[in-house]
Amino acid sequence: MALMRRAWVFVIVMAMLVVTALVAARQAPQRGRGPAATAQETDVSANASRMLEEGRRTFRYDTFGDEAFWGDTLKLHAAIAGARNGGVGPGVSPKTALSVGLKVDMDAVPAPVVAGLRAGTVNLDDPANTLALLKANAVVGVTGRFNGDRLQSIGIQCAFCHSTVDDAFMPGIGHRLDGYANRDLNVGAIVALSPDLSAYTKLLAVDEATVKKVLSSWGPGKFDAELNLDGKAFRPDGKPAATLIPAAYGLAGVNLHTWTGGWGGVTYWNAYVANLEMQGRGAFWDPRLTNAKQYPVAARSGFGNKRSSGPDMVTAKLAALEFYQLAIPTPKPKPGSFDTAAATRGQSVFGSKAKCSTCHVPPLFTEPGWNVHKPSEIGIDDFQSERSPDHTYRTAPLRALMSHAKGGFYHDGRFADLRAVVDHYDGFLKLALSDTEKRDLIEYLKSL
Ligand code: HEC
Ligand code: HEC
Repeated sequence: MALMRRAWVFVIVMAMLVVTALVAARQAPQRGRGPAATAQETDVSANASRMLEEGRRTFRYDTFGDEAFWGDTLKLHAAIAGARNGGVGPGVSPKTALSVGLKVDMDAVPAPVVAGLRAGTVNLDDPANTLALLKANAVVGVTGRFNGDRLQSIGIQCAFCHSTVDDAFMPGIGHRLDGYANRDLNVGAIVALSPDLSAYTKLLAVDEATVKKVLSSWGPGKFDAELNLDGKAFRPDGKPAATLIPAAYGLAGVNLHTWTGGWGGVTYWNAYVANLEMQGRGAFWDPRLTNAKQYPVAARSGFGNKRSSGPDMVTAKLAALEFYQLAIPTPKPKPGSFDTAAATRGQSVFGSKAKCSTCHVPPLFTEPGWNVHKPSEIGIDDFQSERSPDHTYRTAPLRALMSHAKGGFYHDGRFADLRAVVDHYDGFLKLALSDTEKRDLIEYLKSL
């Protein structure tokens, strides 16, 4: 017995020595070189921080020259300024701006204005104060171009829809949160303020009343990113065709993008939005948009091959813009916002009985690979999937779901809360989940 024990001790000691030697051998070259990085490593790190900064600037502040559309064409700046400040109509007060979901970056608000806001001496009903905020570049995702105190034009950025603030100062005013979906933003109501909607009446070949009806159908947190391609403003059931603004964080590792996925990756979509939605000046190529049957508006407008006159203000920014977006991490759920014990139990429901992880593969929570499905696989209608080149829905990567719970879940918010989502899968996939399993599963979803 004693002999056998000694033999075992010998084996274990030898094994430990071998492991130690192997680890030492692997570390040796690094130790020899010391902490200094190679020239290429230094280059890569410097490039990464340059791209990150440049991309953040583009995401937050770059209009890609789209003032030519939002200002010169739609004349939105005139409606914001109001007649008393050289524009038209009553103007947009800070209170109105906040009520349509625009956000104010408190770090850009000049100190005297912050003091005035605190003291309640800044008149939030006066459009002149909206102009002051614009001049300070404090309205998230909107840039005013001024000549002295006159607002001459206006442009929008990615941050318009894909950033919000943490409400640190008051609701709607706080520090920027890039990548969060602004589910308060009423894009339709803002665009409808424009004194000149003829760009849309011409594009869609409809009258102004129809354009206004469509814009007012969207509501907060929604936008229709394909209306400019297919002209489909309403679904067969009469509901608006707009989709929810998705989160733009936690996208690294996710292959296909947007709710339907068939378009391509992040950089495809960035180029698409900058050129065809925001109407920046650039170049864009997608032969799929010449398909007049699926995309009649795009085909007759030549969107499949756009070359703006003048300098290209989009293409050179795409690399850093994608880099920045992929760098935005998924925000962690607030401590205490879910029940940890239930979430742990829910994790095993997610991975086994509920079959969620067959599509939402952890830790990406979408499939590695071609991450899309037919509508029949998830038990919903094909209206939105038919608008995409691949006729699919993308497996939504489940990330910080509660930070974009407002407006509901799925592309059109058809499920008001996570319970409704789980009930849908339970029925459609015949999962026969118990009430406790459903509750645990929901706590797990809240923890992601
Ligand atoms: C007017 C609002 C609006 C603006 C401005 C906007 N987006 Fe979006 N974005 C959306 C909507 C709505 C979708 C969903 C589109 C769909 O699925 O059809 C989307 C989708 C995305 C996605 C896909 C997210 C995912 O889950 O895969 C990315 C990435 C994105 N936008 C980046 C940008 C960038 C970068 C800009 C600036 C160049 C930008 N967006 C400007 C509304 C907007
Ligand atoms: C067959 C693949 C598949 C399975 C299985 C599946 N999902 Fe999904 N899931 C999807 C797709 C595709 C979407 C996007 C639907 C849309 O865009 O309308 C989605 C969307 C969601 C959303 C909405 C995300 C958002 O941002 O709005 C949640 C939450 C979700 N799934 C949870 C689950 C849970 C929980 C399970 C298991 C009970 C599950 N899914 C099973 C494919 C799947």
